[in-house]
Amino acid sequence: MTSTQPRVAVGSLRIAVLPPAVADQIAAGEVVERPASVVKELIENSLDAGATSIDIQAEDGGRQKIRISDDGSGMSRDDALLALERHATSKIRSAADLVGVPTFGFRGEAIPAICSVSQFDVETAESDGDGIHISAAGGAVKAVQSAARRRGTTITVGRLFYNAPARQKFLRSARSEWRSILDVVSTMSLMRRDVRLTLSHDGKEVMSLASAHSMRERIAALWSADYASKFINVDDVSGAIHVSGLAERPADVGTSTRRVHIAVNGRAIRDNGMVRAAETAYRSTIPSGVRPTLFLEIVVPADSVDINVHPAKSEVRFRDRWVTERAVENAVRRALGTLDAAAAVGAPMVWSPRSPDTSSGPVQWPPASATSLPFAPSYEGSVDSGLGSRVSGLEPAVDEPVPQLTQLKRTYLMFEVDTGVVLIDQHSAHERILFEQFMHAFERGASPSQKLLFPLTLTLSAAEADALDQNREPLEKLGFELGAFGGQSVIVHSVPTPHPRFDAERCLRDSLAALAGDKPAASASKLQHLAATVACKAAIKAGDVMSQPEMRALFIALRQCELPAHDVHGRQTIVQLSWDELDRRFGRR
Ligand SMILES: Nc1ncnc2c1ncn2[C@@H]1O[C@H](COP(=O)(O)OP(=O)(O)O)[C@@H](O)[C@H]1O
Ligand SMILES: [Mg+2]
Repeated sequence: MTSTQPRVAVGSLRIAVLPPAVADQIAAGEVVERPASVVKELIENSLDAGATSIDIQAEDGGRQKIRISDDGSGMSRDDALLALERHATSKIRSAADLVGVPTFGFRGEAIPAICSVSQFDVETAESDGDGIHISAAGGAVKAVQSAARRRGTTITVGRLFYNAPARQKFLRSARSEWRSILDVVSTMSLMRRDVRLTLSHDGKEVMSLASAHSMRERIAALWSADYASKFINVDDVSGAIHVSGLAERPADVGTSTRRVHIAVNGRAIRDNGMVRAAETAYRSTIPSGVRPTLFLEIVVPADSVDINVHPAKSEVRFRDRWVTERAVENAVRRALGTLDAAAAVGAPMVWSPRSPDTSSGPVQWPPASATSLPFAPSYEGSVDSGLGSRVSGLEPAVDEPVPQLTQLKRTYLMFEVDTGVVLIDQHSAHERILFEQFMHAFERGASPSQKLLFPLTLTLSAAEADALDQNREPLEKLGFELGAFGGQSVIVHSVPTPHPRFDAERCLRDSLAALAGDKPAASASKLQHLAATVACKAAIKAGDVMSQPEMRALFIALRQCELPAHDVHGRQTIVQLSWDELDRRFGRR
């Protein structure tokens, strides 16, 4: 037979509506991939039924048995029977109800899909003592009996895919399936912290979670209080978008298993765009190549997101993705701009297990009234005439109260806040300040600069001359006024004015040498790189003695930075040591 010949004689029908059992099995392929997807669908049903307590048991990675019991609304006998039918749902009545549907489920697919590929038992009661038990296998009801049980529902899924050998073959080891179940349950528990949850595997209880008040408290219960303390609070509203949750303190990124949880309007989703947006906020605070752990909840108006684009509802479509991504990025960046984001010696100041409530707001930069955070730059520096009377060319507000600063080892500045001691690395901090100042200069086209009384003439190597040639315009924006250059020499008329010990020649030379050794980069990151390089060379060094006014100016300028706690290479500029940690080390608690 050749392919052009019809398989069935012309004149007879070649299309037939599939029997429901086959349709269910096909649908099952979309909704039920593996034991973990069964667990997810059943927990969602329990939550939709208003459960406050859910017990989950699995055997053999869920391959032999999954049982989920809840104390939710339960079902009547007729509803329970109807639930086994495809597209039977109590949650929506019309397509219009799909907009902003508040329940996890709405497709009426999960129960029949799961039932069609397992030995399926439902026990359910709408009130204590008065329930029914339905047994089914491969989608066919085998027995219906009355059963005495408490209000709520217990669903048991045995021998998943027993009648679908092709699908069963794709199940992975019990260990691997179990890990996926653990993931699903952890994710659900993070989103619905109000619900009590237990999880056991092969008869052993693995998880027992009381209801929690905050994400942090749940994380502490799921993993450990120590782990939970590695995160800073994210909480930001832009327009109609609210982004909250926890983001890993940059200094801790890469030190433990990376986790990413993103929820939109209470639904856990996978969304690389949102993750990337959050990660963009970390740029320059962590080395490239490591990625942060994130627990983020995004709340948008119900009609600005479509949840019905994926059979397992694990993806959504945003009406305005770009705006949402920027809201996520800004929220995370704002969190990273607080003092909380600073690396901590031992227990951080932000949160202690004794006060798990997130309402104990972030640690403020002193003074407590400083509302300029996270970002209120005032880089309109006037051209400085007296060389280097100030640290950075920034004009500190004269009457701004500043904590008592002490220089240690000619390298660190120290000050005290209510909750502990803060240490600043003078070089990295100044580098961060100059970097942000330079980046602003690129946007606005001006940076404070200092006219030299006697212009400098520098003779450059071929590579340096080349680097200068390629970076001439941005260097001028940074405050280097460069004259015509003959051959390989250049005349420098003006330089940036960062501090009294600023060595203009050395800074320009070192910067050119660094730039000359680099591979060409994309233009945006090229400017960043240039700013970072010059900032590094221009910043005050470790070992430089600083006067009180200089320390003061540095402190104020740092506080105005967008990301004050990190230098441009992902190293810390600030380290916090909480009284809690000190007290602990001295055995005071
Ligand atoms: N644990 C449960 N408690 C109460 N009712 C449930 C439970 N599980 C399922 N149901 C009922 O069965 C219906 C079908 O469930 P399902 O197939 O998951 O579809 P959906 O959740 O999309 O409505 C639900 O709409 C609900 O009325
Ligand atoms: Mg459902």
